[in-house]
Amino acid sequence: MKVAVLGAAGGIGQPLSMILKHNLPKGSSLSLYDVAPFTPGVAKDLSHIPTDVCVSGFTGDDLPKALEGADVVVIPAGVARKPGMTRDDLFNINAGIIANLVKNCAEVCPKACICIITNPVNSTVPIAAEVLKAKGVYDPHRLFGVTVLDVLRSETFLGEELGVSKETMKVPVIGGHSGTTILPLISQVIGSEVISDDRIAELTVRIQNAGTEVVEAKAGAGSATLSMAAAGARFALKVLRGLMGEPGVCEYGYTEGDGKYTRFFAQGLVFGKNGWERTLDIGELSAYEQKCLDELIPVLNGNIEKGVAFGKDWVSKN
Ligand code: LMR
Repeated sequence: MKVAVLGAAGGIGQPLSMILKHNLPKGSSLSLYDVAPFTPGVAKDLSHIPTDVCVSGFTGDDLPKALEGADVVVIPAGVARKPGMTRDDLFNINAGIIANLVKNCAEVCPKACICIITNPVNSTVPIAAEVLKAKGVYDPHRLFGVTVLDVLRSETFLGEELGVSKETMKVPVIGGHSGTTILPLISQVIGSEVISDDRIAELTVRIQNAGTEVVEAKAGAGSATLSMAAAGARFALKVLRGLMGEPGVCEYGYTEGDGKYTRFFAQGLVFGKNGWERTLDIGELSAYEQKCLDELIPVLNGNIEKGVAFGKDWVSKN
């Protein structure tokens, strides 16, 4: 198996690559690409860690070389937000970056599973879909937005709330990856009956604003990098396990599914040899969660339409 990381020398890319170097199956290869000229140096650095994963690094015009034969491509490339900005404020800078990287994926590794971390994920995934479609290689089962950091945060905050190990927590998080489009289904968490309705609403808002919590704490130095790297690696490794034929591997992710709620929607996915094989039903919602779902749908639809419009325009010009 070959995994390519695009944006590998950045704040998310470096720790993500490190986790993959430690956890990819023996004999895999890890290909790092970034516009930063020191990317081959990051690869050299990682290559001294004694695991049976071969690392190579590329920069500049060598993106096609980095992507050759890739089974999974993880993309954290792009610009991070600063205090006072929303993820959508990154649209103008990151939209073109994603379109160009995905165009290269379409040309060099059209069957690869592409996992997009670059914000605003609610819109960058629809952009990627338009680019892949224009190249005639769009397979909705192989294109993902990485929303699993919302699951990690929910596991942490709910574990703390209930006084149980965070490592055993399971929290479904559906919708999108921005503000109120992030919807943790706390009513489905085992033991959550003891949490009051008011407290559930508080926890929901904290999960929705957790990215901003990090942006503010970093005070201008960017957004979540280490926890996002953990999330990206957890997601990519599960996609990979599915590709390798392991049955029953599941994770939450943002994809074009059956369109029941919005065209792209984050929900439970079961992975297989061709990407995600089926989506998990979102199950029973509390009245509060149903209200949040009803309210998020128009917001998420707006983010999706913005991405689609940009994608269509970009492909007509490139
Ligand atoms: C996050 O959730 O931490 C990331 O999407 C980065 C951000 O801007 O919040």
